[in-house]
Amino acid sequence: MKVLILPDEKAATQRAADIVARTVTANPAAVLGLATGGTMLPLYAALVQRHRDDGLSFAQTTSFNLDEYIGLAPDHPCSYHTYMNDALFSHVDIDRARTHLPRGDAADPQVASDEYEDLIEAAGGIDLQLLGIGQNGHIGFNEPTASLGSRTRIKTLTTSTRRANQQYFASYEETPRYAITMGVATILASRKCVLVATGAAKAEAVARMVEGPLSAACPASALQLHAKATVILDQAAAEGLKLTDYYENVHPQGQDSVFD
Ligand code: F6R
Repeated sequence: MKVLILPDEKAATQRAADIVARTVTANPAAVLGLATGGTMLPLYAALVQRHRDDGLSFAQTTSFNLDEYIGLAPDHPCSYHTYMNDALFSHVDIDRARTHLPRGDAADPQVASDEYEDLIEAAGGIDLQLLGIGQNGHIGFNEPTASLGSRTRIKTLTTSTRRANQQYFASYEETPRYAITMGVATILASRKCVLVATGAAKAEAVARMVEGPLSAACPASALQLHAKATVILDQAAAEGLKLTDYYENVHPQGQDSVFD
């Protein structure tokens, strides 16, 4: 696992944007795995800026988002479809026909989940998967105790996740209880993973993910099994780590090592 510690959120965001830009420039038809949430908003803003200023093009890319709330139609203001349109898709040249999110309003969410797995496979798998992390160690909506072998399916959200996401809904009661999410094994099957975590509230989960035991109790710790996982942190999110000297030694200021 590459651990890159950047001075602040802005620098962490730019570092993640560099990796996405490099991936898309090297392979314009890259398949991107996308995440939602507050952490990703500055990253998408940085990508939109690079599209406008530097001509970074998503015209040939395909995308698959990690998750969607069950019960929300794509045009619901709080759906992740709407989030993606507002944060990224409407502002870049991506072909909407090649953007994918699970259908939260599917008549049979499990059938929709199986079909989603098939679509990812048909696209040739995910080249670069972006991830955030929940305060409880979730990735996607794989809550603690999620099977490390799981594939896209229905998950029940924990109270803490619903409380964290309540800010986007009118009340806790209206915050969805269920989601369709890529599984941990779906995420691990992507060729590269880049997880971004910023702010002190993520410090404990980050420490468990990077230096804790591999355990379904912290689904993000499954990234320890991934051969190409990069974790991009700001100082505050890195605060709980014990081996910071080593990470700094390998990647000073979060930059590439001589062998990257
Ligand atoms: C969103 C997702 C979640 C978030 C995580 C962090 O698609 O899969 O795992 O990445 O809950 O959310 P923020 O960034 O809002 O703290």
